[in-house]
Amino acid sequence: MANESQNWVLMVTAQTPTNIAVIKYWGKRDDSTLILPVNDSISVTLDPNHLCTTNTVAVSPIFQQDRMWLNANEISLSGGRFQSCLREIRSHACDVEDKKKGIKITKEDWSKLYLHIASYNNFPTAAGLASSAAGFACLVYALGKLMNVKEDESQLSAIARQGSGSACRSLYGGFVKWVMGKEENGSDSLAVQLADEKHWDDLVIVIAVVSSRQKETSSTSGMRETVETSLLLQHRAKEVVPKRILQMEQAIRNRDFPSFSRLTCADSNQFHAVCLDTSPPIFYMNDTSHRIISIVEKWNRSEEAPQVAYTFDAGPNAVLIARDRKAAALLIQRLLYYFPPSSDDLNSYIIGDNSIAKDAGI
Ligand code: ADP
Ligand code: DP6
Ligand code: CO
Repeated sequence: MANESQNWVLMVTAQTPTNIAVIKYWGKRDDSTLILPVNDSISVTLDPNHLCTTNTVAVSPIFQQDRMWLNANEISLSGGRFQSCLREIRSHACDVEDKKKGIKITKEDWSKLYLHIASYNNFPTAAGLASSAAGFACLVYALGKLMNVKEDESQLSAIARQGSGSACRSLYGGFVKWVMGKEENGSDSLAVQLADEKHWDDLVIVIAVVSSRQKETSSTSGMRETVETSLLLQHRAKEVVPKRILQMEQAIRNRDFPSFSRLTCADSNQFHAVCLDTSPPIFYMNDTSHRIISIVEKWNRSEEAPQVAYTFDAGPNAVLIARDRKAAALLIQRLLYYFPPSSDDLNSYIIGDNSIAKDAGI
C-alpha cells in the first residue's frame, strides 16, 4: 500500500435490479454452502427504477472490521453466505490505483483491508419480492467494481449464487435461466441470459404490494422444510419443471404471450401447492393474493387470449405481467375497482414502465 496518508477512503456505488422467477427455484439438492438447486429456473429482471438495491462499498485503512448496514440498520456479516461472498470476491481482487487521491492497493493488500457496506432496498425486504436476489447480486457486483475484479458476469453470478440462489439471475438483464448443473462442486450451476431487455418490451409489470411485512418463513428455511417433507416436490423437480423450462424458453423466444402466461401462472400455483404439501404447511399467499388470482383468471377467460400473467414468490405480493400497455391500464382499473384506495387489502402498486431491466450496475 504505497499511500502517503492512511486516512483515505475509496468507495463505489452500484445499483442492481431484482428478478422475479416465472419458473421457480424451490429446493436445494444438498446442504452445502454452494447453493445448488433441484431444478432449473427462469426469471425476468425488473425495472431498477422501481425495485432495486443500491450498495455503497468502501475500503479504508482506518476500518477495523468488515461491517454492513442494511436499510440503515447494522447487520451481522458472520453468516456463512456473507462470508462466502466476501471470501470469493477477495480472492479475485486485483491491483487498484487512484492517482488523483494517491491511493494504490495491491492484490495482496485486499486480504488485510476491511470493508464497510451500506445497502438499501427501495422495496420491501424479506416480503417475497426477491430482496435477497437484488441484495446479494448488488453486493458482489459493487465489491467486484471496488476491487477491480476481472471476472465476467457469469463468474460474478456464481459468487452471488452463494449469497442467495436467486441472486445469480440478477447479474443479467432481460430473461435469465439458472441452469441447475450436475457437478457436485457447482461449477456448471450458472445463470445464462436467454434474451435481453429489448427482446420483449411490450410487457408491462405491475406489482401489487399486499403486505410489506417481513414473512414468517424465510425462503431458505421454507425450501429446506419442503425438501425434507414434500413428495410433490420430487415430482415437480423431476417430471414437471424440465418440460416447462423448454416450453417457457420457446414462449419467450416467440414472444408467445398465451403460452408464457399459462406457464407462469401454472408454475406459481404449483410452487405454492408444494409449499402446502410441506409439513407443517407453509402459507405464503393470503386471501388478497387469492382474490387477485381469481380476478385475473376470470378476466383472462373472458377474453379471446390471456391479458395478464400472475406470479407470487415466497410472500403474498402479486407480480402481474401484462401483455402490453393497454392491458396494464385495464389491469390497474380492475385492481382499483376491486381494491379501492379506501380498502386495507392492498398497500400500493409499483408499476414498471419499460419493465424489463438491463444488467446489473446501472
Ligand atoms: P426475499 O423474498 O425478499 O428474497 P428471503 O427470505 O429470500 O426474502 O431473503 C431475505 C433476506 O435476504 C434478508 O433477511 C437479508 O438477510 C437478505 N437481504 C435482503 N436484502 C439484502 C441486501 N440489500 N443486501 C444483503 N442481504 C439482503
Ligand atoms: C420463491 O433465492 O431467496 O423466490 O437461495 O435460500 O437464498 P436462498 O433462497 P432464495 O429463494 C427464492 C425462491 C423464490 C423463487 C425464485 O426466485 O426462483
Ligand atoms: Co429471496
